[in-house]
Amino acid sequence: DRSLKIAPSILSADFADFGREIRAVEDQGADWIHVDVMDGHFVPNLTFGPPAVKAFRRHVTTFMDVHLMISPVDAYIDAYADAGADLLTAHVEAGPHIHRTLQAIRGAGMKAGVALNPGTPAEAVEHVLDICDLVCVMTVNPGFGGQSFIDMTAKVRKLRGMIGDRPVHIEIDGGVTPRTAPLVREAGADVLVAGSAVFKGGSVQDPAPYGENIRAI
Ligand code: DX5
Ligand code: ZN
Repeated sequence: DRSLKIAPSILSADFADFGREIRAVEDQGADWIHVDVMDGHFVPNLTFGPPAVKAFRRHVTTFMDVHLMISPVDAYIDAYADAGADLLTAHVEAGPHIHRTLQAIRGAGMKAGVALNPGTPAEAVEHVLDICDLVCVMTVNPGFGGQSFIDMTAKVRKLRGMIGDRPVHIEIDGGVTPRTAPLVREAGADVLVAGSAVFKGGSVQDPAPYGENIRAI
């Protein structure tokens, strides 16, 4: 299925070697690179900010998908545009003005994504589908890699119906494996983020498992 995109999350890469890790997963067939930004406030974990993302950009030759798990968002949008994000995703739960945030992301020249935590209904994004390029359905509670999949198949199916013929991707993030991927693909998802399932068993010295893992999803 050529329209399916696999987006390895570098949250599961070697944090001392991001440049080579990015190049290794791209060589092994990654379609996008998924970058998880966490602030220790919206989620109970901390990762990296705009200067690090700008450094990753020098190694990404595909498409840099930046997932903000931060609150508030708006003050940082220009910094992620400057860092080279192709797509910037904000959580609908991160503030009261997701419509303004998505407009600002597009205004800064990026594609705009909106993410939904597992406890948030599909209807929360109903009125922003005309101003976004992607809806990210979280299938774990965000904050950590390697958690187990929470079945959001019914939400994905409902969103695919709500989106209709608009050119909006549905991305799945969390617990994607060869076992869970078919459930969400069948429901209408077309971008699958995978961290632990892509990076397991490989390394920059031995990247072939990354490719086998990507092809297995
Ligand atoms: C979770 C992050 C995910 C995570 C996915 O908070 O948004 O992108 O890295 O990791 P796996 O695929 O291991 O669940
Ligand atoms: Zn993510």
